[in-house]
Amino acid sequence: MNEINKNKEAWNLLSKEHYFNFKKQLEENKTLLNDNIVKELGNIRFKSLIHLQCNIGQDTISLARMGLGKVVGVDLSDENIFYANKLKEDFNMEKMEFIESDVLEFGDKHNDLYDIVFTSEGVLGWLPDLKKWAKVVRGLLKDDGFFYVYDSHPILHIFDDRLIAEKREFVLKYDYFNAKADLGYEIGGYAAGVKHAENYWWNHSLSDIVNALIEAGLEIEYLHEFDTLFWDNGGMTHVGRSLYQYPEFRNKLPMSYSIKAKVRK
Ligand SMILES: C[S@@+](CC[C@H](N)C(=O)[O-])C[C@H]1O[C@@H](n2cnc3c(N)ncnc32)[C@H](O)[C@@H]1O
Repeated sequence: MNEINKNKEAWNLLSKEHYFNFKKQLEENKTLLNDNIVKELGNIRFKSLIHLQCNIGQDTISLARMGLGKVVGVDLSDENIFYANKLKEDFNMEKMEFIESDVLEFGDKHNDLYDIVFTSEGVLGWLPDLKKWAKVVRGLLKDDGFFYVYDSHPILHIFDDRLIAEKREFVLKYDYFNAKADLGYEIGGYAAGVKHAENYWWNHSLSDIVNALIEAGLEIEYLHEFDTLFWDNGGMTHVGRSLYQYPEFRNKLPMSYSIKAKVRK
């Protein structure tokens, strides 16, 4: 699919800068995971985990530091996987494995099963087909395992983000239902400079996300919504590790969500 290839080229442009930035952060901090994720994951010691859309493995290393057993990261970008393997060496994570793959094609080529399938912070919008994605998630889970996602809220992505950042104005710009691919020309800016590259992003409604998981055979344990974001969208207040908020929109606007689901018996 042309859009996926374009996204791969775009993400490849950020890998090297992400590596130097995240390596430094990992040297200074035990975890780069935001407070909500750490709290919701709870005790995951000795569990096996696969991290989908792992970027250069910065959060995979933070997850491994929670005492996991086997840890595998998967990402579309070959440059991300190259730098993830460098991070693995830098931090002596011998047991960790990184695999280059489109997550939507991953189910066909990987037969191992995991206690936890994890994905977070800027992920589902890069995937055009959530039904296919949810089947991959189910196929990777042991029968007593669980799936966890933490991502930006689709409601946030229907507004013109520049106007929110610059003027705190909420002006409808994008579709919530049946959104087609949004073609963007800039990528990055959160851990690397902004790069100019064609990229494609799909806003999925919350019901499409939940229903894809249910259709694939999962049972939702919870869906949580948060009035905080995991990046500073401009002028936000730092309210926890990797969590930001517009104080004036506290309790007013969902900015992120998490879902925990298990295999339906
Ligand atoms: C915003 S990052 C999310 C990871 C991490 N939370 C971060 O902040 O860097 C999105 C990741 O999704 C990956 N990605 C995009 N499309 C993908 C696909 N079809 N299959 C696998 N990974 C994909 C990108 O290469 C990128 O590393």
